[in-house]
Amino acid sequence: MIGRLNHVAIAVSDIDAATAVYRDTLGAEVSGKVEQTEHGVTTVFINLPNTKIELLEPLGEQSPIAKFLEKNPSGGIHHVCYEVDDILAARDQLVARGARVLGDGEPKIGAHGKPVLFLHPKDFLGTLTELEQA
Ligand code: CO
Repeated sequence: MIGRLNHVAIAVSDIDAATAVYRDTLGAEVSGKVEQTEHGVTTVFINLPNTKIELLEPLGEQSPIAKFLEKNPSGGIHHVCYEVDDILAARDQLVARGARVLGDGEPKIGAHGKPVLFLHPKDFLGTLTELEQA
């Protein structure tokens, strides 16, 4: 069902400092900063030859990553994102196999303008798992 690894997301408290680590220390190609108001995060994408790293900084008071950063003040891996061909078919198969979809269960438009869903970390080895329609 799942296809390519689309990205690994890392939550950070200072996205400028985090971007500098990837750009200046690791020598990676980085995107500009985008405020995703409806998702409560500011994002920067690191473009690697085979996948991406998504840096996430909290935006606003209701940011969904605020609690994560309280527990992990120096930042940490927040989720992984896999591509699927058909997000509704993937969701229905996963629900039939006992997985829990977060929120109302309906795909939202994610950071790349494509439909995404998040799966409960307790069902996937303690890892918040995002699916994105390829
Ligand atoms: Co993501």
